[in-house]
Amino acid sequence: MAMKKYKYQLLLVFISVTLVLQAAVVVGSKPPKDKHCKADKPGDDGYLSHCTGTIKCPESCPECHLSCKFCGMAHCPKCDRVGSVCQDPRFIGGDGQMFYFHGYKDSDFCLVTDKGLHINAHFIGKRTANRTRDFTWVQALGILFDTHKFYVGSKRVGKWHSSVDQFVLYFDGYSISLPPGEGSKWVSPNRELSIVRVENANYLNVEITGLLNSSIGIVPVTKEDSRVHKYEITDADCFAHLELNFDFFKLTDSVSGVLGQSYAPSFVNPVKKGVPMPLMGGEKNFMASSIFTPDCEAVQFKAMHHSSIVGSGLGRNPHRLGMPSAVCSSNGSEGSGFVCKR
Ligand SMILES: *[C@@H]1O[C@H](CO)[C@@H](O)[C@H](O)[C@H]1NC(C)=O
Ligand SMILES: *[C@@H]1O[C@H](CO)[C@@H](O)[C@H](O)[C@H]1NC(C)=O
Ligand SMILES: *[C@@H]1O[C@H](CO)[C@@H](O)[C@H](O)[C@H]1NC(C)=O
Repeated sequence: MAMKKYKYQLLLVFISVTLVLQAAVVVGSKPPKDKHCKADKPGDDGYLSHCTGTIKCPESCPECHLSCKFCGMAHCPKCDRVGSVCQDPRFIGGDGQMFYFHGYKDSDFCLVTDKGLHINAHFIGKRTANRTRDFTWVQALGILFDTHKFYVGSKRVGKWHSSVDQFVLYFDGYSISLPPGEGSKWVSPNRELSIVRVENANYLNVEITGLLNSSIGIVPVTKEDSRVHKYEITDADCFAHLELNFDFFKLTDSVSGVLGQSYAPSFVNPVKKGVPMPLMGGEKNFMASSIFTPDCEAVQFKAMHHSSIVGSGLGRNPHRLGMPSAVCSSNGSEGSGFVCKR
């Protein structure tokens, strides 16, 4: 009798586990995005369509950016990968753990601070009535390496048009003009830093040789985001912000910063797991006085010569490099159940 009951319970557990798994698979696998193209008609990016009919994102990137000009995927955003900073900033750390860091609007915070690399972010945002905190987004980055200063940010945008490029770029104080069009490229005088457009507008790949590879996009806060999250966005400002993904090639054990700390081997993630919005604190530790000032309390940066960092044995330990190939996904419900798999 006892045995029979036990078997029955096992069966029940089996059935419910199967149901949960199926539910997760169903919610997790939304059909890939698609788009209709008409041959020789300009699309929303202003370029002539080279194909006709419906084009689809590949299974490997169901939320891709589709282009009628290329007859398929123009670009795969990487907000679901380790090393990403997207939305109202939602991070996926080097340990694969997703978290939010709100900071304050109109303030700067160090995202990554290490011996040879320092990245500050400028936060924009707004405080709606009766809220106890600001809604925030990352508007710009100030990247320091060697003695160089690289600025990448978005202009302030009222009404969003996806074909209008909004990047503002500076290298060592000089404005960089990067002609529009996918494939357009700029390389710094000593060739350490290169910038390539991966879409006609608003998407770049930025690489610092031996240190960093990154995908940098600009996106608006959409009406739909605003409605769901009660941001109260108006046509006067769509809070255009950066959508980021970093791949680090050299990090030391002492790397810190809002994102950087999660790549340190000794890091124990303090955020609560399994809650819809795991929050990372430490505003005081990470606040900087300006976009190019490496003065957050957690600072590690020394203006070391680029070649001495890249040529050194620093950062060889793969644990410090996170899980660059990992893809993370939520089970559909906002923020909850984020899992990363290699
Ligand atoms: C803010 O709180 C006040 C006082 O409780 C209330 O009268 C007002 O309607 C609230 N405003 C909004 C936008 O919720
Ligand atoms: C950097 O990323 C781009 C886009 O994913 C890729 O084509 C390129 O090979 C990467 N560079 C390195 C050095 O990994
Ligand atoms: C999926 O989301 C639900 C609802 O928020 C949550 O209860 C559940 O634990 C999540 N499942 C996984 C596998 O994370």
